[in-house]
Amino acid sequence: MEQFYKLLKEYNKNFAAKVNDVPEWFLQYTEEEPPLYWKTVYEILKNEDRNQSIVEIGAGFGDVTALLYFMGFKNVISFEREESLIQYINDKVKSIFNKSANTINSSYPQELSFSPDIIIQVNCSYFNQSNNKEEYIEQVKSTYRKNGIPRMFVFETIDDSYQEVNANFPYFMRLNKIDIAKEFPKCQLEAFVTYKFPQNKVSKTIYKICK
Ligand SMILES: C[S@@+](CC[C@H](N)C(=O)[O-])C[C@H]1O[C@@H](n2cnc3c(N)ncnc32)[C@H](O)[C@@H]1O
Repeated sequence: MEQFYKLLKEYNKNFAAKVNDVPEWFLQYTEEEPPLYWKTVYEILKNEDRNQSIVEIGAGFGDVTALLYFMGFKNVISFEREESLIQYINDKVKSIFNKSANTINSSYPQELSFSPDIIIQVNCSYFNQSNNKEEYIEQVKSTYRKNGIPRMFVFETIDDSYQEVNANFPYFMRLNKIDIAKEFPKCQLEAFVTYKFPQNKVSKTIYKICK
């Protein structure tokens, strides 16, 4: 994994040198160490059967996508709603793995012809049209159940221990373990802290939610 990250980092550094205006969240993947959430996704999935179908929500520049290909998952569909990013994701997967990525330029949830085994939504917290906690939770749950309940949902949240004012992450979308346990009853839950304010700009937690 360390060797693969070196390769990914070099690819991204070259890419960032050529493309103007890359967002700050992408630049994490040009640093010496990968972001903790990326390593956490690896740890969560490392013993999983590679034949399971994965839906990735919000692929961005394809760095989690690339991790999934590196790990050998054979059935990955990556949703990215920004059209301008699709070619970048496809180029990355082609260049590093000589494979054609299965990338869909659309906002998830979308109806699929199958029920994914695993849904991954990390570094992808947006309240979209939600105006309050109830609506935000409904947004999350409609993502979770749109195509049948996945065996595993890897979901990174803004943690409610984060108390600063932040227009991108209003208070109503900050969740804690009790919220997650309430919304996913009967599921097995594991929590992994990925960012902690004030060392990081916000506090985030990845939940591994298994039915
Ligand atoms: C902060 S970036 C992170 C990208 C990637 N997850 C990573 O960690 O490198 C979030 C991306 O998710 C996309 N996005 C947000 N909500 C989405 C949705 N519901 N469906 C598809 N793409 C989405 C945004 O356009 C953006 O490119």
